[in-house]
Amino acid sequence: MTENDIALIRETFAHLHRRKTETARIFYDRLFEIAPEVRPLFKGDIKAQGAKLMETLLVAIATLNDRDGLTILLEKLGRGHRDYHVEPRHYDHVGAALIWTLRTSLADGFTPAVERAWTSLYADIAATMIGAAKAA
Ligand code: HEM
Repeated sequence: MTENDIALIRETFAHLHRRKTETARIFYDRLFEIAPEVRPLFKGDIKAQGAKLMETLLVAIATLNDRDGLTILLEKLGRGHRDYHVEPRHYDHVGAALIWTLRTSLADGFTPAVERAWTSLYADIAATMIGAAKAA
């Protein structure tokens, strides 16, 4: 991931974070549409869950220049997700719902460069979380 990718991710995420409740709703609606089988894995309030997801993404994006700190956080999160019965293949659905949310919310701002930067970031996050879940 390049410096330019990081700048693009920060700019576009700022836009989403300003409307985080709406963004989280779009995300979960899409996720449960494309992958209804993951709906029962969520036991708590989906609104609170959306807020947690947005805050974690905020931390991940704020610490993109401190990869060691970010990796420790994501490994812990990945192990937690195994305990929630999240399987590696579910990460593809979440990635697809995330990209769809960005496309919907950013409209013209969703350029090919923005798509590449986010796809690369999500692939890194998912690989770290899945790797930690398998290792532990
Ligand atoms: C970028 C990847 C992801 C991030 C940043 C993320 C973030 C979070 C956070 C912050 C929590 C709150 C609890 C905790 O801290 O452990 C959580 C819980 C959870 N996540 Fe994720 N998650 C990701 C991927 C996924 C995937 C792929 C699934 C599969 C469908 C998933 C399903 C869940 C479930 C079922 C819970 C527990 C909800 C409950 O308490 O009912 N997450 N996630």
